[in-house]
Amino acid sequence: TPLRNEASKKDILIGSGAINPIYLNDPEFAAVLANQFNSLSPENEMKWSFINPTKGHYNWDTLDHLVNFAEDNNMVVKGHGLISSCCNPDFLLNITHPTAFHTAMKTHFEAIMHRYDGKMDRWDVVTEALKTQGGGLNNNTFYQVLGPGYIADAFRIARAAAPDAKLFINENLVESLPGKRQELYNLVSRLVAKGVPIDGIALQMHITEVAPKLGVITEMVSSYKALGLEVAIAEMDVHTLDNAIETDTYGVVISEALDAGITDISFWGFTDKHAYTWVPGAKPLMFDQSYKPKSEFYATHTAL
Ligand code: XIL
Repeated sequence: TPLRNEASKKDILIGSGAINPIYLNDPEFAAVLANQFNSLSPENEMKWSFINPTKGHYNWDTLDHLVNFAEDNNMVVKGHGLISSCCNPDFLLNITHPTAFHTAMKTHFEAIMHRYDGKMDRWDVVTEALKTQGGGLNNNTFYQVLGPGYIADAFRIARAAAPDAKLFINENLVESLPGKRQELYNLVSRLVAKGVPIDGIALQMHITEVAPKLGVITEMVSSYKALGLEVAIAEMDVHTLDNAIETDTYGVVISEALDAGITDISFWGFTDKHAYTWVPGAKPLMFDQSYKPKSEFYATHTAL
């Protein structure tokens, strides 16, 4: 049975991120995506410079295509990349006045969130707020112009623009770096204490070589639950050159996540044909380059 049938029985979202809408023209890609997953999200197409490269100009076509595909196949869509660590257009980078910058952010969020109101059920509002190895906030353009308060501003704007959607802060490596994990928790609990509207933590979960220590996911779920927040897995893939480790990692992580009560799991793509990987030769996903399920798929299926 397809993953989505198993997942739906338990009200679990099983998704594929990293969907570049041009891949949908490949009938095999489209068939596996629709057959196996009940959720999807774009790769780069919603990032600022892609969707809104110049002031007032929006490239809706590719994202509309993605949303229509999801509708036709009874899938939900997660908005990914309102604020990402890359891809900011020059017109934004040139705004140095905080009030004008805040207005640009509000205009941008409202344009996207209103267009996909009711069509995107959850959003990564801020991605990679922290430095990769931890040790402070990323010195991105939002931070430079608005200061650390940009995160709260972004969530407030997002909630007002899409009151019914879930809002996530998306972060990498927190499952493997204890210091960064604590830092994210401190940041998020301060936001919650100030009444900033945030619904959850999206763990990227790009795993290189070793799975997070057993118990880490469980502990995160319970500490965020105490704040009234949920934990989701947003972009899982496993970048190792060792097949056995990779298969085992899929099984172990998905099992622990489900046992801990996580109900929203997405991978960063599903086929090694279109894999985002920084480990040369790695095949990080559940299907091979000809869409055949790998042992990673069966490990995930068994865990479900
Ligand atoms: C990646 C894309 O997959 C690449 O095509 C692009 O060159 C860089 O960004 N975490 C994220 C994603 O939140 O947006 C990133 O996507 C991968 C890491």
